[in-house]
Amino acid sequence: MSSKEKSSQVSGFYKLSIEKRIEFVQQFASLSKEEAQVFSSSLDVETADRMIENALGTFELPLGIAVNFIINGKEYLIPMATEESSVVAAASNAAKFARIHGGFATECSDPLMIGQMQLLRVNDVATAAQTIMNHKKQLLQLANAQDKILVTLGGGAKDIEVRILDSPLGKMIVAHLIVDVRDAMGANAVNTMCEALAPMLEELTGGKIRLKILSNLADRRIVKAKAVFDNKKMGGDQVVDAFLESYTLASIDPYRAATHNKGIMNGIDSLIIATGNDFRAIEAGAHAYAARNGHYTSLTNYHKDKEGNLVGEIELPMAVGIVGGASSIHPKAKLCQKILGLTTAKELGEIAASLGLAQNFAAVFALSTVGIQKGHMSLHAKNIAIMAGATGELIDKIADNMVEEGNVKLDRAKELISSFK
Ligand code: MEV
Repeated sequence: MSSKEKSSQVSGFYKLSIEKRIEFVQQFASLSKEEAQVFSSSLDVETADRMIENALGTFELPLGIAVNFIINGKEYLIPMATEESSVVAAASNAAKFARIHGGFATECSDPLMIGQMQLLRVNDVATAAQTIMNHKKQLLQLANAQDKILVTLGGGAKDIEVRILDSPLGKMIVAHLIVDVRDAMGANAVNTMCEALAPMLEELTGGKIRLKILSNLADRRIVKAKAVFDNKKMGGDQVVDAFLESYTLASIDPYRAATHNKGIMNGIDSLIIATGNDFRAIEAGAHAYAARNGHYTSLTNYHKDKEGNLVGEIELPMAVGIVGGASSIHPKAKLCQKILGLTTAKELGEIAASLGLAQNFAAVFALSTVGIQKGHMSLHAKNIAIMAGATGELIDKIADNMVEEGNVKLDRAKELISSFK
């Protein structure tokens, strides 16, 4: 496949055998035979033992590929690691709707992370805050001396901001170190810098430093994605209006917004895991950002354009890296990055936001039309059949039977197994 004719658009991908699917991805991403074999290998225990403490083995998740994505004019196959059925199919389907109007378009801020340094027992917080600001240059120099490579790459500590907070312990100062972490997630670089600045801050203010740690509310590292979902393909004005009615509840009600945002994270987390990134950091940042105006709300918003198409937008923090941590060690994470053809962490963030928007569109579209259970049922039925003891061809036979009857239950699967024997 030359890069000109390279397309992520496939219909009936799910019908292909696993070998054929791998072949397709191999061609798309120009993977070597050895690289393609990584799909069916597991993380070796020695690597696992170096990654965490007290390792016993590894824990596997299904890895799938979302198809049909165009993001900023580029074709993408998106690897997704998830235990939840329907998620990969839903994302691929949503990408088809967006494709008609050119796919997803994104914007991204610089990769700025925030490190917090908490200063207690300061007599005069206003004067201390001013002293810190007066020594900004020296503090930034000291921070940057901790990571010369980052500085040569154009990153490093860029700014210091000081906040004075009221607390049950009295007034405290929280100094924020703003660090451009380039292609890393950034936790290590930022934490090292904050720890290095602590003695100087204590000396300058006469206070006591307590916490020195990165903030997961990465609101200086924001990504936005936008897509137009085709009116006709959605089923016309009535369906677009039904979608907007459903979405409105997420915009006003935290009970619905939590579920709505969970659906977004179904997509984002799957990609974050597949690329060896820290999904807890992304989750924490996303939900804190969703509450940034004092009430928890939807991370996406939607409206209808003049042609009646549905326009969807998402905005959230995206602290992801393509260097350091598991993203550089885990063979499958490295392979997934290659499939995406990543050159920067920014690009990964933009794909993640687009995928989150696609996932959210798919969920709300299903909820506004046929309901969510229809899509879930077929794979769910297979799982129930396996739980009941079905093997081989019997799994599909029993699952199809239960879906047809509208009775997908463990007891029924067991009955069917006996009747087929
Ligand atoms: C299920 O994992 C996710 C959904 O509940 C999301 C939503 O309700 O928007 C379907």
